[in-house]
Amino acid sequence: MGRQIFGNTTQSNLIIPDPHQYAMYEDPLDTAFLIENTKTSLLGSRWVFEKSIPSTNDLARELAKEGAPEGTVTLSDAQSQGKGRSGRYWDSPPQGGIYLSTLVYPANPLDVAPFMTLLAGVAVANAISTWCEVTLKWPNDLLAKDKKVCGILCELLPDLKPMPAIVIGIGLNVHQQSSDFSQELRQTATSLFLATGQHLPRTKIIRKLIEELDREYHDFFKEQPQRIIQRWSDRSCMFGQIVTLSKGSRRVKGLVKRLDSKGYLVLETEGGEEVFSAGEVTLKK
Ligand code: BTN
Repeated sequence: MGRQIFGNTTQSNLIIPDPHQYAMYEDPLDTAFLIENTKTSLLGSRWVFEKSIPSTNDLARELAKEGAPEGTVTLSDAQSQGKGRSGRYWDSPPQGGIYLSTLVYPANPLDVAPFMTLLAGVAVANAISTWCEVTLKWPNDLLAKDKKVCGILCELLPDLKPMPAIVIGIGLNVHQQSSDFSQELRQTATSLFLATGQHLPRTKIIRKLIEELDREYHDFFKEQPQRIIQRWSDRSCMFGQIVTLSKGSRRVKGLVKRLDSKGYLVLETEGGEEVFSAGEVTLKK
């Protein structure tokens, strides 16, 4: 079955780093609370909780093949092969973060797919902004104090029968300490604990996150798609900044102007305005 990953569409085999010693933080999920108290109209129609699986996105995809209902949420305390963009590995220590995916079957998946990453970013930002100041970095990152605290990986399953599906995967670092990140990641990654000094319970965050995602998803179909571009832009840290965008072997420096109507990034470069549908963006400090 075909599969597309938005943003950078190359997905190589995952390179899984050597096992790393984590400072364990215990924060078991209250699954009954989530099932009973999460107030949504679509998401959470079915919850699947796991202790450790390779990837919640992969589980959602397998369940979709078996006809899982729209709104299915797959959650795991740990992932052994958590997937990030561009074939990268998403570090998923047990109970250290939130690793979840939701399954949706929009009527026009090819048209709406590019907006799903932006929509999920806005929903996560809404959900955690009561506890932590976060900003959005195109296309799929949330930053706290200029470091990445959350990443989003949306996958389109265009050939799924009887109808195509989209899996929205969210990885949020919650309890990690600096020593839990590799030397390399430490420069760029953070957690809610590192950003706020508080160990926020994952159950509470997940409830809010799924409620916000449900609301944003509904609003997206009720409103003009442009509204999500506006909401995303309102929460972004990028506009007016000089960035470097890498796409394949190309590196382009430019000033961030706006997102266009498709959610693509518009940069003012040496050669004039250029529009990018994908790429890795590095912000100048
Ligand atoms: C990125 O920033 O590169 C995206 C990271 C997405 C990670 C999440 S964790 C839950 C879901 N399952 C996966 O295997 N990946 C996503």
